[in-house]
Amino acid sequence: MLSIRKPGIDDMQLYFDWANDPEVRGQSYNSDPIDLGNHKKWFESALKNEACFMYVFVNADKEDVGQVRIQKQNDREALIGISIDFGHRGKGYAKEMLLLATASFLGSNNGFLINAYIKESNLSSKLSFEKAGFQFSDMVDYENFRSFHYIKE
Ligand SMILES: CC(C)(COP(=O)(O)OP(=O)(O)OC[C@H]1O[C@@H](n2cnc3c(N)ncnc32)[C@H](O)[C@@H]1OP(=O)(O)O)[C@@H](O)C(=O)NCCC(=O)NCCS
Repeated sequence: MLSIRKPGIDDMQLYFDWANDPEVRGQSYNSDPIDLGNHKKWFESALKNEACFMYVFVNADKEDVGQVRIQKQNDREALIGISIDFGHRGKGYAKEMLLLATASFLGSNNGFLINAYIKESNLSSKLSFEKAGFQFSDMVDYENFRSFHYIKE
């Protein structure tokens, strides 16, 4: 059972470590390593950005297990991303995190559609989005990678 919390400025290093995890970089659309200075600027502005909804998930042992970010793209659509701490992968947390984050976001943003883009090779991510109620839309070339496009409304 996971609980949800909003990140704060003290989570800057946690997000940096998660973002620079080799598998997270590999599954991202920009796979270059992230520099600490750029990350700090990005994180401070993301925390203040009202179009950016950030969720950290905590397990029963009070460990931070991962994060979901939902970024509004316009007044009707948003883009979702997820990553789980290396030590907590393979436990099926992604489904629960996606369910909790999308329920929270859609609860306060009525009528929005959430887009997910997943590289074709990322099977566990694809299955997690399906188990969390995302519907397959189409195959697309997203940022030059053949990708699954999933939607939740
Ligand atoms: C992708 C990611 C979020 C998946 O999270 P996870 O909770 O560790 O996922 P799991 O390994 O538990 O797999 C999810 C589900 O797929 C199933 N699954 C995974 N591989 C499978 C396989 N080869 N065959 C059948 N089922 C499989 C699991 O059983 C699990 O199902 P369950 O929820 O019913 O138990 C996580 O691995 C991660 O953070 N990766 C790096 C970043 C990333 O890829 N982000 C997503 C970008 S779109």
